[in-house]
Amino acid sequence: MKLIGTGSALPRKVVTNDDLSQFLDTSDDWIYPRTGIKTRHIISDERLEDLAADAVMKALEDAALSPADIDLLICSNVVNEYLTPGLGCIISAKTGITCPSMDINCACPGFIYAMDIAENYFLAGRVKNVVIVCAEEPTRMASWADRSTCVLFGDGAGAAVFTRGDNFKGTILRAQPDPTKIWQYRPLARTPFDTREVSEVPLQMMGREVFRFAVTAAVQDIHTMLRKNGIEMKDVDYFMIHQANLRIVEGIRERIGAPSYKFPSNIRDHGNSSSASCPILLDECNRAGLFKPGDRLMFSAFGAGLQSAVALLEW
Ligand code: COA
Repeated sequence: MKLIGTGSALPRKVVTNDDLSQFLDTSDDWIYPRTGIKTRHIISDERLEDLAADAVMKALEDAALSPADIDLLICSNVVNEYLTPGLGCIISAKTGITCPSMDINCACPGFIYAMDIAENYFLAGRVKNVVIVCAEEPTRMASWADRSTCVLFGDGAGAAVFTRGDNFKGTILRAQPDPTKIWQYRPLARTPFDTREVSEVPLQMMGREVFRFAVTAAVQDIHTMLRKNGIEMKDVDYFMIHQANLRIVEGIRERIGAPSYKFPSNIRDHGNSSSASCPILLDECNRAGLFKPGDRLMFSAFGAGLQSAVALLEW
């Protein structure tokens, strides 16, 4: 398959570290050096599905396609206000896309998992054009009394359109199952027959362990992808790393020994927007004209599961 269009959309409301320190025992002096985050976009008067639809329409415009051209919509999302139908169906209705859609919940590496699914549809000859949309509102998962999690996140949506071609060089997906490091529990309606003691638990994260997992998994995944494609580290032009924490990106960069200019980053302005982070970064770089034909882009993302993934494409 071949990437032919990108789009993204962010909530209007921008929240600074100083804004957070008005109601939380935190500060820019704590947050910025540990995470690289200065501001994040947070949903206030918008709806996630509207941001997602906006990102899809921008990506279609960039690809010079119309909603009727799309054969499959894959939506990556951890949580949204609809339990059913899938967020992909709601985005389709808003954009006039009428093909089948599916939702996946693969947390932060969701964009790469979605590209893996799309590639298999292309390889099977079942589709001509696919749109992937990653739409996330992680700021509504964390407890706003928990300074160790809520300061890290931002909301947004990123989309990418693929057609038949061969600039996509493949994915590697990897799982190290452990649901105790990043998790959240949301009980469903209680039936008269339910005898369990269950209560809601906001987003929980073992920060230091997740940090170590992220760096180690990404470094291994990147090396595996290089070997699989018979290329060297110097042959990669840009590393599109999930924007979870600038120190994680820096840790990966140091261990693989690549120069800083190869690591585009927007975490300073966006925080961690889960699976939307990679396609938002991709769209911003695309619209800034960063990439030239033939550039090799290595995507690497990691998160709840614990799961990680890499993808390689040539611009
Ligand atoms: N403001 C001020 N103090 C804070 C704070 C905040 N926002 N968050 C935590 N602290 C405090 C803690 O309470 C603790 O205080 P104590 O020593 O008095 O108990 C102290 O800072 C150290 O906390 P700790 O959690 O050990 O900090 P850390 O150096 O590990 O940094 C993270 C925390 C979350 C920034 C870091 O672990 C991290 O980035 N992990 C990866 C998270 C991530 O990216 N997850 C998503 C992956 S997809």
